[in-house]
This record gives sequence, C-alpha cells and structure tokens, in this order.
Amino acid sequence: MSCRQAGYLRAAAFVAASLLAFQHGVHAAAGAEDRLAPCMVCHGENASSAEPDTPLLAGQPSFYAITQLFLFREGRRGSEVMTAMAKGMSDDDLRDFSDLIGKLAPPSRPVNPTNSLRMATGAALAQKHRCASCHGADYAGGKQVARLAHQREAYLSRVLVEFRSGKRLGYTSAMSEALTGISAEALADLAHYLANLPTAAP
Ligand code: HEC
Ligand code: HEC
Repeated sequence: MSCRQAGYLRAAAFVAASLLAFQHGVHAAAGAEDRLAPCMVCHGENASSAEPDTPLLAGQPSFYAITQLFLFREGRRGSEVMTAMAKGMSDDDLRDFSDLIGKLAPPSRPVNPTNSLRMATGAALAQKHRCASCHGADYAGGKQVARLAHQREAYLSRVLVEFRSGKRLGYTSAMSEALTGISAEALADLAHYLANLPTAAP
C-alpha cells in the first residue's frame, strides 16, 4: 500500500468515526446539511477542490447516489475507502446522504484548457456509442444513471477502464455492455470530452 493510500484510509477511518459520533448525538446541534461536510473533505465542493481521482458528488441524482452507497456498503463496488465509509450506515443513513447529494448544485464548468482534437474525437465517440441515450442529452444523468458532465477527468478515465475490465460491477450490466469493443485510447478521449463538456450558449 502506498503512502498516499494509507493516508487516505486513515482519513476514511477518521471520518467514519466522526459520523458515528454524529449519529450518537454528540453534534446534535448541527444542521442536516452539515452531515455532508466530512464527505466533502475528499469529494470537494466544486470542480477544482477535489482530489483528481475522487468523484465530485455535486449534481448526482439521489437515486444514483443511493445505489452506489448500497453497492459500497455491501462490498460489491470495490473501494476500500468508500466501503469503510458506508459499512456502518443504516438504510436511513443511505437515504439521508443520497437526498442531500441530490440537492447539491451541479459542478461549475472546469476552466482547464482543453485539447480541441480530443474534444472532437470524444464527441464523435459519444455519439457513435450512444452514451447520451442513457446519460441524457446534456449528460446530467437522472434516476439510477450517473451525471457525467464536468466530472473529474482522471476519475472518469479510471472508472471507464474498470467497467470495461469488469473490475467495477455496476448495479446492472448496462455499462459493461455499453463499453464492449471500445479501445483504451477511446475511453481516455471520452473522459476528456465529458469532463470538459462545453456548456450550452446562454
Ligand atoms: C477518504 C476520502 C473519502 C471520504 C471521506 C468520502 N468519500 Fe465517497 N468516495 C471516495 C472515493 C475515492 C470514491 C471513488 C470510489 C471508486 O473508485 O469507485 C468515492 C465515491 C463515492 C460515491 C460514488 C460517486 C460516483 O460518482 O460514482 C458516493 C455516492 C460517495 N462517495 C459518497 C460519500 C459520502 C456520502 C461520504 C460521507 C459520508 C463520502 N463519500 C466520504 C472517497 C471518499
Ligand atoms: C444502457 C444505458 C447506458 C449507456 C448506453 C451508457 N451508460 Fe454509462 N452508466 C449507465 C448506468 C445505469 C450507470 C450507473 C452504473 C451502475 O449501474 O452502477 C452508468 C455509469 C457510468 C459512469 C460512472 C460514473 C460515476 O460517477 O462513477 C461513466 C463514467 C459512464 N457511465 C460513462 C458512459 C459512457 C462514456 C457511455 C458511452 C460509451 C455510457 N456511459 C453509456 C448507463 C448507461
């Protein structure tokens, strides 16, 4: 285990302990929204503050969030950190956290300079493979389908590889089927496009 991973797991254990204290009323005076504060230490409030490999939660549909928290809790979505976070959660906790996530405003558009050739390649791939047919025309997701627009690029790249290799098992097989036959290079271009998606003209 790398140094960074060890630090990460220590952070997760600390946050999990704080959450438990919260549940036991130590922080009874805090408002419901404050329950997400320890989560944001890793997830970040907007497009620039999170760790590159950690997804932004902003704008994710609550139904998507609850399916993923459920998969983490049951150990079916491999992530040591998130399984440590979710394993002590009751069904009510899963619902409360997901409701709060569903109310977060979507991330602001990233300001990273983008590569226009890769943007064009990514757009053509997304169209060819009909990603928008499930993720929505603006890639905002909905119901059990994840929001992709302006998610961190490194995270998108990694999970696409994990879906294709079968390392990440979805709640359903929709994603592994959607990625059949797409090359590794194409997955990186798709991630670049989705992370830097142009916003509609005002
Ligand atoms: C120590 C860092 C850390 C903390 C604290 C943390 N998370 Fe996470 N979370 C992660 C990482 C890393 C992932 C990506 C896991 C993977 O690779 O599949 C993740 C993934 C998620 C996802 C799935 C997002 C997606 O786009 O699929 C949800 C939902 C989530 N976390 C909710 C929470 C909630 C709610 C809390 C607070 C109770 C929390 N997290 C606290 C690191 C953290
Ligand atoms: C048949 C519907 C469907 C199609 C087509 C589809 N997806 Fe998905 N996608 C889903 C669902 C459902 C999820 C939630 C994963 C789960 O089931 O746990 C998801 C999740 C994802 C995630 C994970 C997001 C996160 O925050 O962890 C990424 C990235 C993604 N899709 C990218 C794509 C790309 C790129 C394409 C086109 C090549 C695509 N999807 C096509 C249904 C679809």
